[in-house]
Amino acid sequence: MKKLRDIDLRVSLAGLELKNPVIAASGTFGYGTEYSTLAEPGDFGAVITKTITLSPRAGNPPPRVCETACGMLNSIGLANVGFEAFKKDKLPRLLGKGTVIIANIAGNTIEEYVELAGKLNKITDIPALELNISCPNVRHGGIAFGTDPAGAAALSKAVRRVYKKTLIVKLSPNVSDIAAIARAVEKAGADALSLINTLYGMAVDIRKRRPVLGNITGGLSGPAIKPVALYNLYKAYHTVKIPLIGLGGIMNYTDALEFMITGAAAVQIGTANFVNPSAARDILAGMTGFCRENNIIRVKNLTGVLKC
Ligand SMILES: Cc1cc2nc3c(=O)[nH]c(=O)nc-3n(C[C@H](O)[C@H](O)[C@H](O)COP(=O)(O)O)c2cc1C
Repeated sequence: MKKLRDIDLRVSLAGLELKNPVIAASGTFGYGTEYSTLAEPGDFGAVITKTITLSPRAGNPPPRVCETACGMLNSIGLANVGFEAFKKDKLPRLLGKGTVIIANIAGNTIEEYVELAGKLNKITDIPALELNISCPNVRHGGIAFGTDPAGAAALSKAVRRVYKKTLIVKLSPNVSDIAAIARAVEKAGADALSLINTLYGMAVDIRKRRPVLGNITGGLSGPAIKPVALYNLYKAYHTVKIPLIGLGGIMNYTDALEFMITGAAAVQIGTANFVNPSAARDILAGMTGFCRENNIIRVKNLTGVLKC
């Protein structure tokens, strides 16, 4: 049997070298330091920041999260400190933690995405960008660009022109054909895709006869969406050649392995961070054990080995 240290957990994603395939999903690990007493950014192969916009955003009215059977709903609405405060106050605290930092960005218009991508292109400590074209909780930007292939391609192409490092585009499951969007975004110059963001959902308080969320609707995440996420990953894997990062309902190492076997080069952990702040560590330990038991020396060798 191989010793723990003999398993090679490294993965590479379109030029981005990660020490392990477990990534903190945007919006669920803050700016990387909020969990400091519970989890370390350095546990993850990469940390994706909460979505950043050019100017600060207050987000949607509360309540902004609620628990549902098998998952949670959120309607945060891209609340964030804005680019300047991120660069000045948040980024320095995330540096030197032994993880790769990926900035997730959104804008109201293509011009805003491009301006922000241009600014991030100059920050050497951030080697990759994840374009959020899939947030269901804001009216402008976000999902507005992610639901039709032409819009997704136009935005990706415009950002590609100014952004010279690894460009990841995060796709929405709230579409009729995710393969068409994946194909369009690949053609527009994306280096990798993340899929999926949350699904539309809502919850009702029967006593108040009101929606639970202040925004009425929100994004559903957690175990409830895992089969949908796997299906979308499967579709995209058989459509594009660029690497895929799988996410949606990954709570433990067997979930993570399902995504890798279906075609993910790496996985993101979102809602699981709220349930178990040690999720990344536990998932990596489980993956390592699985590799040892199955005589797999490199975890990357599991990507796409699904037999159909
Ligand atoms: C509270 C919360 C906030 C989120 N904020 C963002 C965000 O700012 N940007 C983004 O791209 N995705 C955001 N997401 C979506 C997650 O990154 C992820 O795509 C989704 O939750 C599915 O993964 P999961 O089931 O593992 O949570 C958020 C999710 C939650 C639960």
